[in-house]
Amino acid sequence: MTVVAPTFDLVVAANRLPVDLVFDADGKSTWQRSPGGLVAAMDPVMRGRDAAWVGWAGEPGPAPEPFSDGMHLQQVALSPTEVQEYYEGFSNGTLWPIYHDVIVQASFHRTWWNTYRTVNNRFAMAIAKVAAPCATVWVHDYQLQLVPAMLRALRPDLRIGWFDHIPFPPVELFAQLPWRRALVEGLLGADFLGFQRTADAENFLRVCGQLLGMATKGDTVTFTPSGKDLADGRTVRVGAIPISVDFQGLDALARTPPVVARAAEIRACLGDPKILLLGVDRLDYTKGIRHRLKAYLELLQDKAISSPEVTLMLVALPSREHIDAYRQLREEVDGTVGRINGKYSAMGSPAVQYLHQAFSREEMAAMFLAADVMLVTPLRDGMNLVAKEYVACRHDLGGALVLSEFAGAWHELHQAFICNPHDIEGLKQAIMRAIDIPEDERRRRMKALRKLVAAHDVYWWANSYLEALASAPDRPHRATRAGNEERRVAERANTLNRRASDRASEGEGSEEHRLLADVGKPPG
Ligand code: F6P
Repeated sequence: MTVVAPTFDLVVAANRLPVDLVFDADGKSTWQRSPGGLVAAMDPVMRGRDAAWVGWAGEPGPAPEPFSDGMHLQQVALSPTEVQEYYEGFSNGTLWPIYHDVIVQASFHRTWWNTYRTVNNRFAMAIAKVAAPCATVWVHDYQLQLVPAMLRALRPDLRIGWFDHIPFPPVELFAQLPWRRALVEGLLGADFLGFQRTADAENFLRVCGQLLGMATKGDTVTFTPSGKDLADGRTVRVGAIPISVDFQGLDALARTPPVVARAAEIRACLGDPKILLLGVDRLDYTKGIRHRLKAYLELLQDKAISSPEVTLMLVALPSREHIDAYRQLREEVDGTVGRINGKYSAMGSPAVQYLHQAFSREEMAAMFLAADVMLVTPLRDGMNLVAKEYVACRHDLGGALVLSEFAGAWHELHQAFICNPHDIEGLKQAIMRAIDIPEDERRRRMKALRKLVAAHDVYWWANSYLEALASAPDRPHRATRAGNEERRVAERANTLNRRASDRASEGEGSEEHRLLADVGKPPG
């Protein structure tokens, strides 16, 4: 008897499954939630749907059998060499630096590229197997940019979308990639390509038009694969749909008595500081952790703050530990934290509480609720969902968010305290403003931030994306007048905030801060 494999009308494909296979010291395996924003966002959207998720289980070796965990999980196996060349190599040693402003140098190796192609092809075949006729397939992120065209060649009946969770680089940086045309042609196998910010979508369109001489018009690219007739040309739409968080789920979690109690306990464990600063990131050089520590150290040295009245809780989730740049970052962060603590900690009250571990959702919600100031200071970040998670957990309207203008989240969260993390003086001032903010302004800012994240949560994002994919290459709907007004208010806040931050760095008093507090307030 032949067993027919199940097929699904919705298939999601990402480098990682939502759960990772992890082995303990005795070689016993368990499943654990995967790291990163992609899984945090997609998991609530996918749970309970009759859908499949195709991905890697996070360990080299043969793929475990498919299983069900709120959805059908279909694993793609990677050999140890493929993990090195496709995941650590091409994805995170070539693409990741190029897509993040070359904060560290990118490496180009033809062997890595060949393995990237092989693995993308394996993903395409795995998706083709589980996709029902005319199914919708949603491919995610930079690790799988060749999948759309490979999949279309196997299954022309499918509706295929791709979403870029990280920034899409400007032409000048993308042009460095020896495989730039193949990557773009891989993406253009999709019907719709989604990006975090309008600037990312525009960068992609410029790469198509200016660098590769393709026909672009408005937000579309028309592309004819080589060897095909012009009549076989396809039009692909490109758009910005910023990812978000499960606002209601996090809000509800942060209101539960155990989380509220744990938040108080965290503060007590740290010696009950008057002000608790918090940073939560994967330990990645894009996150501006060095800059944050430098600003914090200088504030202590300047005596603008002092320990134990102020404590910094630094949660750095282990990430990509086999890659040199990540190892080096870890050594630097370990060393800097050690130096700060050696000089400024008091018995029972660390100046920096450093945690290099992953935590449960409950524990994270408690940390967010405990922190007076959240420091989100990336040098470049597609979105940064931690900023939105913090806002979603602050049902008490407490807390203030310091946010880098280089995080995608900044393009929505204009009531945060803007910072340019390269400008250490400016970053210090942003932290001090967030610490010293009057109670009523803090509440007003947090209220505005929460309103925005609540209205544009992860379900809004997924539905908007799937609607755009269903109607591509046409647009699903027009922007409403209310939407335009919201955008106008946000743009005004953005301009004032940026100007205020620049002037504050230059040492001037700030009229803009006063004006900013009024943006979006009802007239009168
Ligand atoms: O969003 C960027 C991203 O690479 C995701 O694709 C991924 O889930 C997350 O960061 C974590 O990275 P990694 O899978 O390399 O641990």
